[in-house]
Amino acid sequence: MASAAEPVFWLGNDTLRVSAALFAENRQRLCIGLKAEDGVVPKSVVLLQGGEQKQRYCTDTDLLFRQESFFHWAFGVTEPDCYGAIDVDSGKSLLFVPKLPESYATWMGEIFSKEHFKQKYAVDEVHYTCDIADVLSNLRPAVLLTLRGQNTDSGSICREASFAGISSFQVNNILLHPVIVECRLIKTDMELEVLRYTNRISSEAHKMVMKHVKPGQKEYEMESLFQHYCYTKGGMRHSSYTCICGTGHNSSVLHYGHAGAPNDKSIMDGDMCLFDMGGEYYCYTSDITCSFPANGKFTPDQKLIYEAVLKSSRDVMAAIKPGVKWTDMHRLADRVHLEELVKIGILNGSVEDMMKVHLGSVFMPHGLGHLLGIDVHDVGGYPKGVERIDEPGLRSLRMSRLVQERMVLTVEPGIYFINHLLDQALADPKQSCFINNQVLARFRGFGGVRIEDDIAVTADGIELLTCVPRTVEEVEAFMADSAKTFSPVVSSDTF
Ligand code: GLY
Ligand code: MN
Ligand code: MN
Repeated sequence: MASAAEPVFWLGNDTLRVSAALFAENRQRLCIGLKAEDGVVPKSVVLLQGGEQKQRYCTDTDLLFRQESFFHWAFGVTEPDCYGAIDVDSGKSLLFVPKLPESYATWMGEIFSKEHFKQKYAVDEVHYTCDIADVLSNLRPAVLLTLRGQNTDSGSICREASFAGISSFQVNNILLHPVIVECRLIKTDMELEVLRYTNRISSEAHKMVMKHVKPGQKEYEMESLFQHYCYTKGGMRHSSYTCICGTGHNSSVLHYGHAGAPNDKSIMDGDMCLFDMGGEYYCYTSDITCSFPANGKFTPDQKLIYEAVLKSSRDVMAAIKPGVKWTDMHRLADRVHLEELVKIGILNGSVEDMMKVHLGSVFMPHGLGHLLGIDVHDVGGYPKGVERIDEPGLRSLRMSRLVQERMVLTVEPGIYFINHLLDQALADPKQSCFINNQVLARFRGFGGVRIEDDIAVTADGIELLTCVPRTVEEVEAFMADSAKTFSPVVSSDTF
């Protein structure tokens, strides 16, 4: 990715080199976007505030720092407590770093010069944050564009840049957010290369887990194996989200793995495993789910449900191209699930009529997939004018717009047997009329199957970024092969 002279982020060994040019291009795209925007006047200056180093509650124990996502997108800076400014007319970039106390050199290590950061991040100027008011006023900006807007997944408002003395500047906190969000939505070639890397390493880590899983182990051992592989091979210190390692009944708990259910069940012979894990490199994420039998051999019922989900995954991927509606892709997945559940005998009747009463959401209550980038649930799903569809299933979609080239998305259909949703459906005559309760009873406690891949949208279709065994035959062959050729000890040379 980077030529020898360019500053790069690189963690050595076989990890990816990411050029600082990736962030220069992002800043340039932002300036172009802002200049095209009504209301952005000449001499506007973008001001972003990076993430702060925080401590664990009231203690002096540092939490592991991860950069704020918008700031990372624009500057690629790994250190906390910085600001960045961009002169929109010229594109000039200014980085503000904290002036560290002498004691830092004793406890934390070398205090680097401003010149060091200028080289490291290939910005035009570096100043100390304590001088920010003076430096910005020397630019004589007509307006500071600060970032304020809602994250449409969490509902939270992003933290707007602020510093002592900002009240003497003209500030506009409306204009920047929609423009930078649209920039983040469309990935550049250099960003796609990083996302290919996060997917490659995370796919290999999933395969490592599949090779080592055995009944009798704990779910958290699989979480640990995944993270070990991602960090040791891929330089991924962070996971993109809390690892979900549900086995048996837990594979139907959509956000399993949280502190109240911390991947602590023993894996049993006959369990389905649903492992949803993704590594993160230099703040770029991945989000992959593999579902497979713990003992390496699908039962007939496991095969039926797995192949139903695989069919919806592949049918959706075949349909995705620029211009299609994401909501239609969700409906397509629902339709395939319902058709397959009819073939299995769990449902009977007209699939068209089942769609009218949203029966698909009983088996897949979450959305088909979401944008992916510097955040695992990346920004841009609901810009102004795009409304959430308030229907079961569809209302959980994190994006409801037309698919565009260079979007990166997850495709993650699933079928789950969630008792309280099944009971609700059985209690509703509009839905229960389609359900064969005798057959359904066989699947109570089955858990669930999700197949989650990451894709990049191309001019006429998709590029599949994830690479793991997917068909029943591939999964079984891969796991059988591992039984013969792999010791349970994690070796560094297994791939
Ligand atoms: N792992 C979170 C998700 O699939 O969205
Ligand atoms: Mn996931
Ligand atoms: Mn996902």
